[in-house]
Amino acid sequence: MNDFILETNEVSYSYSDKILALDKVTVQFSKGKRHVILGSNGAGKSTLFMLLNGLFRPSSGNIIFKGKPITYNSKALREIRTSIGVLFQDPDSQLISASVREDISFGPMNLKLDKKTVKERVDYALEITGTNNLADRPVHSLSYGQKKSVCIAGIMAMKPEILILDEPCAGLDQLANQRFLSLLEKLMIQEELTIIFSTHDIDLAYRWADDMYLFNDGKVVASCSSSNFADEFPKFSDYGFVPPQLIELYQHLKEVGVISQRDQHPRSLSELIQLIESSSSYALSNHLKLLSDLIER
Ligand SMILES: Nc1ncnc2c1ncn2[C@@H]1O[C@H](COP(=O)(O)OP(=O)(O)OP(=O)(O)O)[C@@H](O)[C@H]1O
Ligand SMILES: [Mg+2]
Repeated sequence: MNDFILETNEVSYSYSDKILALDKVTVQFSKGKRHVILGSNGAGKSTLFMLLNGLFRPSSGNIIFKGKPITYNSKALREIRTSIGVLFQDPDSQLISASVREDISFGPMNLKLDKKTVKERVDYALEITGTNNLADRPVHSLSYGQKKSVCIAGIMAMKPEILILDEPCAGLDQLANQRFLSLLEKLMIQEELTIIFSTHDIDLAYRWADDMYLFNDGKVVASCSSSNFADEFPKFSDYGFVPPQLIELYQHLKEVGVISQRDQHPRSLSELIQLIESSSSYALSNHLKLLSDLIER
């Protein structure tokens, strides 16, 4: 058996005779890794996510969870939806109860857990997502970013193994974005979660992902891991994605001879500065350090 926790095998999905949203999509997700689905509007990202947790059923092909094809009887689907949590693009479509605490308890109550366990799950979810301060607020009074955090708390209360997030950073300001990514880091480390998220943001994808798939018009048109991303990038630019700024800067510094190594590409500004330092351009690295302090401030 391979070590993929979730896979699709030539999955196609049609909304109608005329709209083929996914066309023979084969993707593989490894346990405990960060996976990104990159794609423009209409590429099929949200449709894929609906299929991955059994909300939609493939028109052909199959979804494989822990080595076994998903079946679509109610017992199997309940298990899948417990193990694979999805944060939808629009948090309002996910929040159904009047208060935050009620909303988070909805999933565990549906699992028919006893009252004490439900309370423990809710307290745990509020704690791990840092939403304790929102517990007694009416859902309708929350900001957009707060609603997303509460949705994640609702998912975490189910103790999933895989967390799928549909454009989680869209609509968040810079600080909320950073907090959100730190939360995902924490969940990965503490809960050993596998994370799959979609985005249009290639800089974010490059900085964050262990590997990524590029979708276009319902098909996988490129894939890469963070280590061979720069080599694979020409394929991404064929679909209108400009290179991550960090790679552009890295390649420019290589061309002008500031960086000599040809090994690992930097994933962050501080990694780039380390490369420059090890190439002994100290004056330049000091300038960059100042620059990165200014950017991060
Ligand atoms: N409910 C629906 N009924 C009919 N067609 C749909 C429906 N939802 C999506 N589609 C079509 O399926 C295709 C894939 O859409 P999908 O929403 O999966 O793309 P996406 O990559 O999530 O796009 P976005 O970045 O805009 O969220 C598109 O052509 C879209 O028009
Ligand atoms: Mg979408």
